[in-house]
Amino acid sequence: MYILSFESSCDETSVAVTKDGKYVLSNEVLSQIDIFKEYGGVVPEISSREHVKGITYAYLSALKNANLTMDDIDYVAVTEGPGLIGSLLTGINASKIVALNYNKPLVGVNHLSGHIYAACIEHDIEFPCLALVISGGHTELVVMKDHYDFNKIGSTKDDAVGEVFDKVARIIGIPYPGGPLLDKIGRDGKAIYHLPRPVLNSKDYSFSFSGLKSATLNLVESLEKDGIKYEIKDIARSFEEAVSEVLLKKTKKAIEEYNIKEVVVVGGSAANSVIRETLVSGIKDVKVTFPHLKYCGDNAAMIGISAYYKIKKGEIDDITLSPKSRLDL
Ligand code: KG4
Ligand code: ZN
Repeated sequence: MYILSFESSCDETSVAVTKDGKYVLSNEVLSQIDIFKEYGGVVPEISSREHVKGITYAYLSALKNANLTMDDIDYVAVTEGPGLIGSLLTGINASKIVALNYNKPLVGVNHLSGHIYAACIEHDIEFPCLALVISGGHTELVVMKDHYDFNKIGSTKDDAVGEVFDKVARIIGIPYPGGPLLDKIGRDGKAIYHLPRPVLNSKDYSFSFSGLKSATLNLVESLEKDGIKYEIKDIARSFEEAVSEVLLKKTKKAIEEYNIKEVVVVGGSAANSVIRETLVSGIKDVKVTFPHLKYCGDNAAMIGISAYYKIKKGEIDDITLSPKSRLDL
């Protein structure tokens, strides 16, 4: 089964062709990061316009790189939410045009399920599976007893992991995009500052990161006020270890309670090296899987893989599909 998929929920315009819910034949990703460096973050209106500019090129390029034509495509898939409405709309409209023009069935995909299914690229996950979704907009623990069976057991009460990386980066003077640069700088740093591990010992699976962000800000302010020299790489590393410890503890708790066989860590911040090391070294008896780095951030390939399993479940949408800024799993 060949699926042509579209993703435009935030600041990446992406179109992909995937095969049988496992193989990526092409995955064109046009990132808007360079445009938003100047603004220090995503500007929704500009993002929408950039999607419009890039989507036709991405579509043609995805087909060409897969060496296929629309005749070969069985389904058209698209991210329906959550995300920025204007940005989602471009991908949805493009997918509808293609689906109508070539008479192909249309499948809407939840962006978070897309992130989870990035772990299924050339990989079979084992159930019960625990997905730790850590992106710019979400931090969630999801138990899956089978494909397309999502049971969200916890999420963040405030900032998402990627969001707090971006905000802490700004506090310590690292330019946009904060997350990846903070990762790079923190690699040479030492965790010499103790920062709080919010809700580490709570009984549920909730997360909270805004207190950690404030604590990092307070730390920097007090070091500066007292004229104490510091290196941002050490603050970055101390912050990353605090985040990682919370993620590890909650993940381990869920592994035990739900008899988990495999953990998949997905979303933009699953690219983080300290989070990766901490989870791999801290989880012993259960397989821990991360998507390839290029499939951690937003991309259409993961949407195509997720769509395959939705189709297998008999769930197909139609041309009335609409964008949803908020959408639960
Ligand atoms: O999944 P994603 O591309 O978009 C959303 O669905 O939100 O995630 C983007 C987030 C950003 O907040 C970015 O700073 C973060 O992922 N991120 C990272 C790294 N690479 C991207 N955070 C920590 N370490 C990284 N290496
Ligand atoms: Zn995402």
